[in-house]
Order: sequence, then C-alpha cells, then structure tokens
Amino acid sequence: MLNDFLVFLIKYYGAAMVANAMPVFIREGTPIDRGLIWVDGKRLLGNGKTWEGLCMGILGGYLAALSISIFFKDTLLFPKLWIASIAGLLGDIIESFLKRRLGIRRGDPLPLLDQLDFAIASTIAYHLMGEFSIFDKISFIILTFTIIIILHITTNTIAYLMKLKDKPW
Ligand code: CTP
Ligand code: MG
Repeated sequence: MLNDFLVFLIKYYGAAMVANAMPVFIREGTPIDRGLIWVDGKRLLGNGKTWEGLCMGILGGYLAALSISIFFKDTLLFPKLWIASIAGLLGDIIESFLKRRLGIRRGDPLPLLDQLDFAIASTIAYHLMGEFSIFDKISFIILTFTIIIILHITTNTIAYLMKLKDKPW
C-alpha cells in the first residue's frame, strides 16, 4: 500500500512539483499581464507571474517528465506528465488571477490554494486525459495534497532563508 502510494506520488506529481518549483528562481522578469489592469482596478495577474518563470517551469517539467518516464520505462507516460506539469503552471496563474480579484496583493498568502493550485490543476488534467479517475484515487490524492502542503511550507521557508523569496509563505 505504501509502495503503491509512493509510486503514485512520484510518477504523477514529481514532474508537476519540479515545474512548479522552477519559477521561484526568477526574481524579476517580464510580467505575463504586462502591467495590465483588470476592470476592478487591480492587476490582471501581478508581477509574480512572469514569462521567464513560465518558460523555466515548462522546461523543468519537460526534463522531469522525461526522467520519470524513463525511470518507469514507460515512454507513453512522458507527454501526459509534461501536459499535467504545464496544467499545474496554468493552475498557479489562475490562482494569481483569483487572488488579485479577491484583493490579495502579490506575495500575500491565500492558504491552501497557494500550496495546492498546481496540484489541483495537474489532478484535473490527469482525470481529463483518462490517466486516472479522481474518484478512484481520492485517498491517494488527499494524501498527496497533504504531503505537498508540508513540502511547500518546508521549501518556502528554505527559499525565504536563502533570500529567494521576500516572505516565508
Ligand atoms: N514566478 C514567476 N513566474 C511564474 C510563476 C512564479 O516568475 N509564472 C516566480 C515569481 O518570482 C514568484 C515566485 O515564482 O514570486 C513564487 O510564485 P508564487 O508563490 O506563485 O507567487 P507569489 O509571489 O506568491 O505571487 P501571487 O500572489 O500572485 O501568488
Ligand atoms: Mg501561486
């Protein structure tokens, strides 16, 4: 059972986690929204979503998806893992859109969604691609999300101490 779960976690969320961690190394870049203000007078996405970050994420997701599919000796897995990692990056962008609409400034916290944005989007991508059903795998998914929250808090604290992030969340 534990073995099954660890395989599930690494196989399906490894590439998405790598892709999502990559953009953090971009301190300043070209904002995806190019400074655009939405009808509510707030930024569309904000300065925390950059083209450089997105490209780094897509590249990181590619390399991780490739490595993981080679490790599991399943080449058909590669495109699915890469697509799911890109879906995760888009999920993070959608989360920033929602945060701005809620009046939360760039870098200010929105607990749970900040940590799970990419994982939720990747999970939906797998469900839509028919890789696994959210309903069949619900217990593994909940466990995965719990581990991601813990990992997120740990890595963000490290990134903050390394001065890669301005705030520890
Ligand atoms: N990042 C980026 N481009 C992206 C995603 C992330 O450059 N497409 C970088 C930014 O430097 C960002 C950091 O990764 O600050 C961490 O991402 P995240 O925590 O999602 O951004 P926040 O700064 O918290 O901004 P937001 O409030 O919009 O979530
Ligand atoms: Mg985010």
